[in-house]
Amino acid sequence: MSESLPIAVLVSGTGTNLQALLDTVHGHEARVVAVASSVPGALALERAVARGVATAVFERSSYPDREARDAAMAAWLVERGTRLVVLAGYMDLLTFAFLERFPSAIVNVHPSLLPAFPGLRAIEQALAYGVKVFGVTVHFVDAGVDSGAVILQRSVELPQARRPDEVLAALRPIEHTLLPEAVRLFARGALQADPENPRRIICAPDER
Ligand code: GRF
Repeated sequence: MSESLPIAVLVSGTGTNLQALLDTVHGHEARVVAVASSVPGALALERAVARGVATAVFERSSYPDREARDAAMAAWLVERGTRLVVLAGYMDLLTFAFLERFPSAIVNVHPSLLPAFPGLRAIEQALAYGVKVFGVTVHFVDAGVDSGAVILQRSVELPQARRPDEVLAALRPIEHTLLPEAVRLFARGALQADPENPRRIICAPDER
């Protein structure tokens, strides 16, 4: 196999998606070289430490503003050799300067079928709307809220669902499959914007 892709994962909480990456692509197609958290004491940090991955906390309150915080975080990620940034439950918006440091190389996992229900509490939004089909999106990150080009999506029919925890239980395994899948595609250089519609990401089939 060609050399593995150095990736960084940004987290703020539990880190089950980070764990999925550590259990699948890490040490294979990719290697997690850095885990940065916006929250000190996040469980995700423990998951990284347990696998010997470098961690750092970039708390908003430790910097004069978001620009300064993001500049420090970007510098650390670049220093670690990061080529792809994966947002996995990262709860802060990134500044434009941060996005520019990693052009077309930041992805996020979101628990809805975008463009439906962007932003916070996506599952609650979907339940309140009364949808029967739920799902997960992995997308590139742009300056908007969950508005970047879609890489992968997967749906699940839950016509009887009433409570967020029921939906979450169905979406978790999908997230944990789809995010590593997207990282694998990126690592293989298999993701390309359709020249006729750059919003449409073409995923080249694996010809191995
Ligand atoms: C996931 O539901 C993800 O879709 C959303 O934040 C949650 C993170 O969960 N962006 P975890 O910290 O990976 O367990």
